[in-house]
Amino acid sequence: MASVTAATDWHDWHLPYDDDTSPLSRRLRLVQRHINDWLDGRTESSLRVVSVCAGQGHDLIGALASRSDADRVRAELIEFDPRNVAAARIGISGAGLNGITVTQADAGDFAAYGTAVPADLVVLAGVLGNISDGDVRATIGALPRLCASNATVIWTRARRHPDLTPAIRGWFADAGFAEEAFHAPADVLFSVGVDRFHGQPQQAPPNGRIFTFVA
Ligand SMILES: C[S@@+](CC[C@H](N)C(=O)[O-])C[C@H]1O[C@@H](n2cnc3c(N)ncnc32)[C@H](O)[C@@H]1O
Repeated sequence: MASVTAATDWHDWHLPYDDDTSPLSRRLRLVQRHINDWLDGRTESSLRVVSVCAGQGHDLIGALASRSDADRVRAELIEFDPRNVAAARIGISGAGLNGITVTQADAGDFAAYGTAVPADLVVLAGVLGNISDGDVRATIGALPRLCASNATVIWTRARRHPDLTPAIRGWFADAGFAEEAFHAPADVLFSVGVDRFHGQPQQAPPNGRIFTFVA
């Protein structure tokens, strides 16, 4: 995956998804697999999903598009870039996924979440590498305010030196999560983690900072 700079164009950032062989597409398939595994493992007729900095929503849209039980999911994609919001809405409509909505908002503020939380699945893809290390820790610490009981969090993080993923995995444990999967393929920099929340959900405040995007 290309490294992120201050000039990152968050619309063009998605272009490698067009190439099935790109690391970003490999990462996407892993995230989608875990979204499917999560849904397969839940029997409820209604489940809530929130995607933090959702981009164009390829992960959720792709995972749910082929599922006959997609209507069990009420998902909210929170994304700042209006071009990505528009692309996600086109994707949702093309896939006929009536249960997914896109909100254009700053996902780094609790105010963006409203009724989307507590969520049964939190997708945190492409976030933890674009905020300060302190905010990574604070964001993981804030997840009990976004998660319902027994929720799953699917997260990604590049392992560019210095690799923060050992610390991240520890911070998830500290916040009441048990790791269900951690993928760190040797030939690429991305990693994908899946953690299950065993702690006590906490009320999300109406507003207040969780993280600030630095890129
Ligand atoms: C690395 S991309 C990840 C996109 C998507 N989650 C994925 O994995 O395909 C980061 C996304 O965060 C969005 N973004 C940046 N700052 C944001 C903010 N404060 N609130 C919501 N989205 C933000 C960007 O526009 C971009 O689409």
